[in-house]
Amino acid sequence: MKKTLTTALVGTALLAATSAFAADAKENWDQLCAKCHAADGSGSTKMGKKLKVLDYTDAAVQAKFTDEHLAKVTLEGSTKDGKELMKGFKDDLTPTDVTALVAYIRQMKK
Ligand code: HEC
Repeated sequence: MKKTLTTALVGTALLAATSAFAADAKENWDQLCAKCHAADGSGSTKMGKKLKVLDYTDAAVQAKFTDEHLAKVTLEGSTKDGKELMKGFKDDLTPTDVTALVAYIRQMKK
């Protein structure tokens, strides 16, 4: 009986932690990233099209990147020929936020 209760409590706590995590990532994404990458990650915004961001709903696009690469660009941004394509967000995000955002990007693929 006691064991069952403990298991149930741990289960609930984990579930709560997981959804809080997801909500934070979505919030950060919508506030900081969706302008270019679109809410669904497809990059189909005006800015996204102009900057030619990739479609993260495409599994083939996702397969090109490692989690490390995704985290690195999120933190440090990306430049091409000395021009900034995307600013880094290391001043806005904690390492936990970045990990959550990478997981959030990963679940965008259809
Ligand atoms: C000003 C528009 C803009 C915003 C805002 C923006 N990005 Fe980007 N992002 C880009 C562009 C453009 C690229 C492609 C850079 C390249 O080709 O090297 C990119 C690339 C990336 C990449 C690397 C993978 C790839 O497609 O090359 C990741 C990961 C990423 N962005 C995540 C994020 C996250 C997370 C946020 C919010 C915290 C964010 N971006 C906000 C424009 C933006």
